Amino acid sequence: MHAAPQPIVPRPRKVDFAFAEAGIPRHWFGGSPVATHVFNGVNLLFPLGERFFVRSVYAFIHEIEQDPALLARVRGFAGQEGRHAHAHEEYFEILEGQGYSVKPFLKVYEKVAYEWLEKVTSKKLRLAGTAALEHYTAIMAENALTERYLDHAHPTLRALMLWHAAEEIEHKSVAFDVLQRIDPSWSLRMAGLAFATATLGSFWIAGTAMLLLQDRAKGVDLRAADAKFAAVPRGEGIGRKVFLRGIRAYLRRDFHPDDMDNHALAAQYLQGAGLA
Ligand SMILES: [Fe+2]
Ligand SMILES: [Fe+2]
Repeated sequence: MHAAPQPIVPRPRKVDFAFAEAGIPRHWFGGSPVATHVFNGVNLLFPLGERFFVRSVYAFIHEIEQDPALLARVRGFAGQEGRHAHAHEEYFEILEGQGYSVKPFLKVYEKVAYEWLEKVTSKKLRLAGTAALEHYTAIMAENALTERYLDHAHPTLRALMLWHAAEEIEHKSVAFDVLQRIDPSWSLRMAGLAFATATLGSFWIAGTAMLLLQDRAKGVDLRAADAKFAAVPRGEGIGRKVFLRGIRAYLRRDFHPDDMDNHALAAQYLQGAGLA
């Protein structure tokens, strides 16, 4: 097992995005319905997902109490995820205000993922799943900070996602290090990867499709509306740049999240945004 040279203790930052006053258009990502809803789709998963991550890690809190450094990182991670969840939930009100109905989807997602799946899986698998989902979010975060595709997004959503991205990088190895402490077996880590890939992939597709179908029902010609905006990422790019890349890295027996050296990228963004 690797250890980060100097693991960061994540620090939660409070940011007020004032969504209601921001004048966010329905298709806020380069005017593209597909790109907008790919991002809205994953946004819908964050609040309940992030609270699940925190529950999954805190289920082992008594086993890491003797390690104050790891405990401090766990507390910082939980604080950051709590604030992310809250900020993304505030944005749901904007979606509803734009005429999208997202609450029925959130209800089904909650029932399937947290009232059923969370109850029938083991504590260890939930922790391993969380470590793998944090690995995927760290890759998405790195992509967002390096590829600059969010330059095409409405500034408020860009600020939301880049703040979230930078903090995801700060705490990317916390759940992983707790997993290594509890059970470092490769097979458990792989089971977590399978769990993460299946759940993130299917709910993300479902959320995106649900929003696109609502647009189509309102008469938006999705093909015509989307054809002009080639610069923003679509599903195919995410399959390759998030899932395939993530799986390939995670399969390595000696993988550690801090092997992907992107902390400077996060620090640079936070500095530039006045959040350091
Ligand atoms: Fe988060
Ligand atoms: Fe996270």
